[in-house]
Amino acid sequence: MNKIAVLTSGGDSPGMNAAIRAVVRTAVYNDIDVHGIYRGYQGLIEGDIKKLDERSVAKILGRGGTILKSARCDEFRSKEGRDKAHAVLEENGIEALVVIGGNGTFAGAMKLGEEFNYPVIGVPGTIDNDLAGTDYTIGYDTALNTVVEAVDKIRDTADSHNRLFFVEVMGRDSGFIALNTGIATGAVAVMSPETKLSAEDLISVLETGHQRKKSSSIVIVAEGNENGGAYEIASRVKEINDKYDIRITVLGHIQRGGSPSCMDRVLAAKLGVAAIESLQSGERGCMVGLINDKLVHTPFEKAVSNKTNSLKDEVKIARILSI
Ligand code: F6P
Repeated sequence: MNKIAVLTSGGDSPGMNAAIRAVVRTAVYNDIDVHGIYRGYQGLIEGDIKKLDERSVAKILGRGGTILKSARCDEFRSKEGRDKAHAVLEENGIEALVVIGGNGTFAGAMKLGEEFNYPVIGVPGTIDNDLAGTDYTIGYDTALNTVVEAVDKIRDTADSHNRLFFVEVMGRDSGFIALNTGIATGAVAVMSPETKLSAEDLISVLETGHQRKKSSSIVIVAEGNENGGAYEIASRVKEINDKYDIRITVLGHIQRGGSPSCMDRVLAAKLGVAAIESLQSGERGCMVGLINDKLVHTPFEKAVSNKTNSLKDEVKIARILSI
């Protein structure tokens, strides 16, 4: 293998730059030519490619976002789009591809690999932590810390005014961010796909809290909560009982930004090195991940299926500790 390329795709996550750096430097270390593809699969289709070297990735370790830029690319979902992408790879003599991203990125990578028998390795980069085959995804730890810092600040106001706050967090269809930040900030309740709490259930939790002399309450709502996001839940609670003094904060994209934590930088370093070494040893069509700190290769098809961790322990712990 003499020439490879790397791209980032889908939602950016803190630590993607650290992963790019690790991929590029490991390739150079092993005398492999490495190219950066800009704007994910869109840039691949359009041939937006540049040769990188060890200095191209200097001083990016602590930067959020991705120097390669990212995109959500509809064209790559079609066979025509993937035909174009594959032609660009062939024209440029690129023999293998490292893709850094989440579910959508790996679904595309799987198709590219299958349709053209093309070697692709995935590195899990998403704040959602919703990929099977790794305990943690790159960016998740930083996002957790961002949420905790924000909720701690919101707690000051909630406490000073005896208010009920609904804080909505990201996570797409899963409650990894919601449950773990709920535990870390002492939320009175977490409303996520795993906890399945209705507005009525929530009111009874709030009433119990009131009887136990809680002075403020923070409810973490996962964006993927099946009974709606923070605004929907808050208005339902108001409809049932309008005595609550409610405020709502949707944290949004601040969760995706910022300098990566030490955990994310180290994870990105380990997985970036593993991606190149895995290609060299003939692995393809799979994601590299760490389970109990051991390197694991998971076929894309399995990586994008639901994570086996049902968050049962987190659901229980959040409930016990919120009394
Ligand atoms: O997958 C990361 C993520 O931030 C999800 O948590 C969220 O649902 C989605 O991306 C938002 O995507 P966009 O930035 O394209 O609106």
